[in-house]
Amino acid sequence: MKIKILEFKEEHDFDEGRMVEYLFIAVQRDRIIGKGGIYKYIDDNNSPPVLHGLYVNKKFRNKGIAIHLQYVREDAAKNYFNAKKVCLWVDKNSWMRKWYERRGYGEPKDKSPTETWLYKNL
Ligand SMILES: CC(C)(COP(=O)(O)OP(=O)(O)OC[C@H]1O[C@@H](n2cnc3c(N)ncnc32)[C@H](O)[C@@H]1OP(=O)(O)O)[C@@H](O)C(=O)NCCC(=O)NCCS
Repeated sequence: MKIKILEFKEEHDFDEGRMVEYLFIAVQRDRIIGKGGIYKYIDDNNSPPVLHGLYVNKKFRNKGIAIHLQYVREDAAKNYFNAKKVCLWVDKNSWMRKWYERRGYGEPKDKSPTETWLYKNL
């Protein structure tokens, strides 16, 4: 299966400040089969980039496409934002949480009882 990753950069102005976002779209021929994004409020040096919107088309699941998008997003965090850490939000009792944990993500100490952001040092 030959997959290409297309990359798009957007800048958004919010009340909180300017956000820079990268979107990565996995395509097979002319068909979108998956996607994932990463964003950061660039004036806020303390907040790590946030991974968001990971999705793989049902027919293409369990073939490693999300894992690949994960590598691409982590590389983007390092190369574009010079990040040493990334974070993401995930449901506490989901299999996705375990999926991220297997890939090096973990909870911070000040965790909430119902949901959590997972962090990974890069
Ligand atoms: C979550 C999602 C992106 C995974 O995409 P994918 O390309 O199928 O995942 P991959 O093939 O890269 O991952 C393979 C791994 O996931 C596991 N996996 C895949 N589907 C699973 C399922 N339904 N239940 C449990 N584990 C699953 C595989 O066992 C494999 O495990 P490994 O860690 O031992 O390698 C996809 O299922 C999806 O788009 N879901 C709907 C949207 C969503 O929930 N997004 C999460 C936002 S945080």
